[in-house]
Amino acid sequence: MIKQYLFVITCAVGLVLPAYTAQAAVDSHARNLAASCAACHGTNGHSAGGTPVLAGMDKALFVGSMKDFKSGARPATVMHQHAKGYTDEEFDLLAEFFAAQKR
Ligand code: HEC
Repeated sequence: MIKQYLFVITCAVGLVLPAYTAQAAVDSHARNLAASCAACHGTNGHSAGGTPVLAGMDKALFVGSMKDFKSGARPATVMHQHAKGYTDEEFDLLAEFFAAQKR
């Protein structure tokens, strides 16, 4: 009886743990990407002024801005250079990360 319980518990942990660590890996990748924005946009997008606040920014607006910077459709002083270094998937990760930060 106890053996059966242990088996069920082991299976449950085996199923849940990989999913959990995969999510954690995505989160830390997003945090690492966002760290390179902190020099200008502040920690987690909380700008101290001079640059736009990214914390709490709408995801679609964020991704649209980054794509427009990358293509050159939106004029910029520095952002076109930064945007060129990221893929669409990374824009999505960054959008998710900044949207989740409180304003
Ligand atoms: C060297 C300073 C600098 C760095 C580093 C930087 N930015 Fe910017 N960002 C700016 C400036 C300045 C603007 C205003 C547009 C311009 O002049 O380029 C801006 C504008 C933006 C905007 C538009 C916001 C709005 O409200 O329209 C977004 C989105 C953005 N940055 C995202 C990022 C992300 C994501 C990173 C990191 C991958 C990043 N920035 C790194 C300086 C910087």
